Amino acid sequence: MRIGSRLYCDHAATTPVSARAAAAMEPWLREKFHNPSSLYEGARAARQAIDEARDVIARAMRCLPGEIVFVSSGTEAANLAIFGAAAGCTNRKRFLFSAGEHECVLKCGPRLNSLGFSVEKIPLTSDGQMDLNALFDAMSDDVCMVAAMSANNETGALNDVATIAEICQKFGALFFCDAVQSFGLLPLDETPDATAISAHKIYGPKGVGALRIRAGAAIKPILFGGGQEREMRAGTENVAGIVGFAEAVKEAMEDPGRAERIQSVRDAFVQAMRIEAVEWSVKNGLPGHAHFTIRGASSEAMLINLDRLGVDASSGSACSSGSIEPSHVLIAMGMSETQAKSALRFSFGAHSEIEDAMEAAKRTKQAADVITRRIG
Ligand SMILES: Cc1ncc(COP(=O)(O)O)c(C=O)c1O
Repeated sequence: MRIGSRLYCDHAATTPVSARAAAAMEPWLREKFHNPSSLYEGARAARQAIDEARDVIARAMRCLPGEIVFVSSGTEAANLAIFGAAAGCTNRKRFLFSAGEHECVLKCGPRLNSLGFSVEKIPLTSDGQMDLNALFDAMSDDVCMVAAMSANNETGALNDVATIAEICQKFGALFFCDAVQSFGLLPLDETPDATAISAHKIYGPKGVGALRIRAGAAIKPILFGGGQEREMRAGTENVAGIVGFAEAVKEAMEDPGRAERIQSVRDAFVQAMRIEAVEWSVKNGLPGHAHFTIRGASSEAMLINLDRLGVDASSGSACSSGSIEPSHVLIAMGMSETQAKSALRFSFGAHSEIEDAMEAAKRTKQAADVITRRIG
């Protein structure tokens, strides 16, 4: 996607709000500003807009509207699933997290510990998937919840959600699936007990997400107040955000060829980047993801050069105190620290064109060339 002379290749970080989603939101920010919990006409209209949005999202998630809880983000959805399960678990004291989970899951660990739960990380295979044998071996009837994402935000690696759900069911454990990256691109598996999605990854606004909680799953609220969302998530609803989210979801559902188009752009990029110094991390992942390392070029130096050359990309790993830490995901896949510190993530989206991908590859080779003087 071009923005002036810049190339946006970071759709896994966020996506632009679509024109349709922005237009759908506008009235709910201005003249239709009423609080959906009030009783007069304007408020009832806001309530109805939320209900209609819930129906759209439930259809997309193949669940009942009453199973959708609107929240402020994918992060909050994960926290609600995890701490809601901890609040609902009586005898089960163990949480199992795939080692590749997003920080919004992994960073719940210390607080779970302080609440008396143990947290164990299930290793990844070299392909970036949660190791199912290791999961099976770790399972027992004292596991409260397993968390495993549908697709990894850094590498794009896909987990086998249906098999994980089967293992969890066998041991009576809850299964939380973070579907933030795959929702709208790949078919959603409806078997987990809780599934998180986030609007800003699918051309909706930032600051709104949803958690699908399967009817009957022992997940309790973690926010208390005005009783919104059927007592599951107190706080005045983000009406405009929810309406924009649903519009973006509708658009995705009306465009079944989107993933294939995005994949053809990604494939063109991968093809153009087939140079000796590049090593690809994951073969069959998310359609828009290209995750690789360039020998001899650190992510940090590459990202600085790419920025100068007008390419928005990412390393996929967290940036702390000014330096890029090696990604926990890549380390869990068995990469060395040096290799992990050379990781780059390009992620293409609905508005990316093949020409953009070719130009991004050209500039990336230029950026690498400046660093290594070896790659052309
Ligand atoms: C896999 C995954 N989970 C959760 C999140 C958090 O979502 P949000 O930005 O809506 O808090 C992200 C965002 O990058 C993500 O990629």
